Formats: sequence, C-alpha cells, structure tokens
Amino acid sequence: PSLGVVLVAAGRGERLGAGRPKAFVELADETLVERGIRTVIALPHAGHLAVVVPEECAAETLEIIDAVAPEGSGWEVSVVHGGRERHESVRFGLAALADTVDTVLVHDAARPLASRELFERVAAEVHRTGDAVVPALPVADTLKRVDAQGVVHETVDRAPLVAVQTPQGFPREQLDSAHATAALHAELPTDDAEVVQRAGGRVRIVSGEARAHKLTTAEDLILLENWIASERR
Ligand code: CTP
Ligand code: MG
Repeated sequence: PSLGVVLVAAGRGERLGAGRPKAFVELADETLVERGIRTVIALPHAGHLAVVVPEECAAETLEIIDAVAPEGSGWEVSVVHGGRERHESVRFGLAALADTVDTVLVHDAARPLASRELFERVAAEVHRTGDAVVPALPVADTLKRVDAQGVVHETVDRAPLVAVQTPQGFPREQLDSAHATAALHAELPTDDAEVVQRAGGRVRIVSGEARAHKLTTAEDLILLENWIASERR
C-alpha cells in the first residue's frame, strides 16, 4: 500500500467529560472511532490504517475493526497504544505503518463527520505538490487581541487567518523526519502541520468543510448529532 492513515483516538476527552475516552463515546449510536475507521476503509485506494487508542481500549478497538473492516476490505488495519500527548500518539502510529507507505494522512477521531471527499482532496494535493497539506476554513468571528486582565487591545485582521482541521496530509518521509527532529517538548504542537513547520517544511491549505468540526465539549455532541439527524431526513 502507498497510502497510510493514522487515526488518533488516544486522548482522554477531559473537556467532554463523558467518563470515557472521547473516541469511544457514541454519536447517534456509533462510536467516533468506528465512524473514522468506516470513512477510511471506504477510500478508493486501499492502504494501511493505524488506529491509535488508549491501552485499555485496544480490545474493544479490535472488535470494532472485526465488525466494520473485515479482511477483504483491502485495508490493513493495526491497533497501536497511544502516548501522553497527541504528537506522541501520532509518532507511535507512524512507526506502525508499513514500509511501503509513502503518503500519510493524520486524522483526529474527534472529527467523526469529516467526509471521504475531504480525505481524497488532501491526499490529491499532497501528490500534486509534494508538500504538507491541511484543510482550512475562513474565520467568521471578529478577532480581538486581549491581555491577561481581559482588556481588549485591538482587532486582529482576519483576512490572512484560517482555522485548520484534519485530515492533514504529508509525504511520509517529511512527517517521519519532522517528528524525529522537531523540538516538541517546550511548547506542545497542537497539530502535525506545526511539527512540520518547526522542522522547516512547507504547508499548504485546501478547502476544509464545516462537517469536519471537532467534538470538544458537550455542545459539540449536540451539534454533530443534529447534523446527522438532518441528513437522515
Ligand atoms: N489524541 C491522542 N493522544 C493524545 C491526545 C489526543 O490520540 N495523547 C487525539 C484525540 O483522541 C483526538 C485528537 O487527538 O482524536 C484531538 O485531541 P483533543 O480534541 O484534544 O482530544 P482529547 O485530548 O481526547 O480531549 P481533551 O483535550 O478534552 O482531553
Ligand atoms: Mg487534548
């Protein structure tokens, strides 16, 4: 396989506070991790998927994979134990991918409604440019710079700003070497594009999508459930 996907699902989900890791919470009767796996194995070119999960969820993940990605789907699927920080979970996932993988997509299980088309758009742009690629949306709100006392100092021009999502795509060598060399511990990177930038790599954007919204809090759960319900109508 030449496409590799790292599905990071090893976070604790503290802000959601559901009493279990966020990727194992159900959204309209299906766990987030299951939705992510289903989207990936429906991609047109089969490859290698590494699902990165908390150690205590590994057995449940294997059961999910047996149910939704039986052999014959064409995808090789591996379960990997996560790390304390997101970038560690990504690194462990990368290390598990087959040697034949040359393009990698890293996706947050916490974005369960990201479409197959978005995965394809990101991968196509990586192939076209040889650069790292992230989905991005314009920022809608007015942005202010504030100080620690809560006093507003100025309005920030939002024209050059975008909000970025996952899946984020990379030439495999670029992401492997960035994770091996970039300084990541003083200030934690919140996405893989940041890891690549710290290693000096170029990152491009493609159009993101509203439905790739990240589930962070209980309000997001309601929002995403409403989207699913409206699509069924
Ligand atoms: N993630 C991971 N390993 C970690 C931390 C995060 O695999 N050590 C994954 C999460 O499972 C999620 C994605 O990275 O799919 C984005 O992280 P976030 O939204 O912050 O999820 P959590 O860390 O689970 O949530 P919280 O920060 O509220 O605890
Ligand atoms: Mg987190």
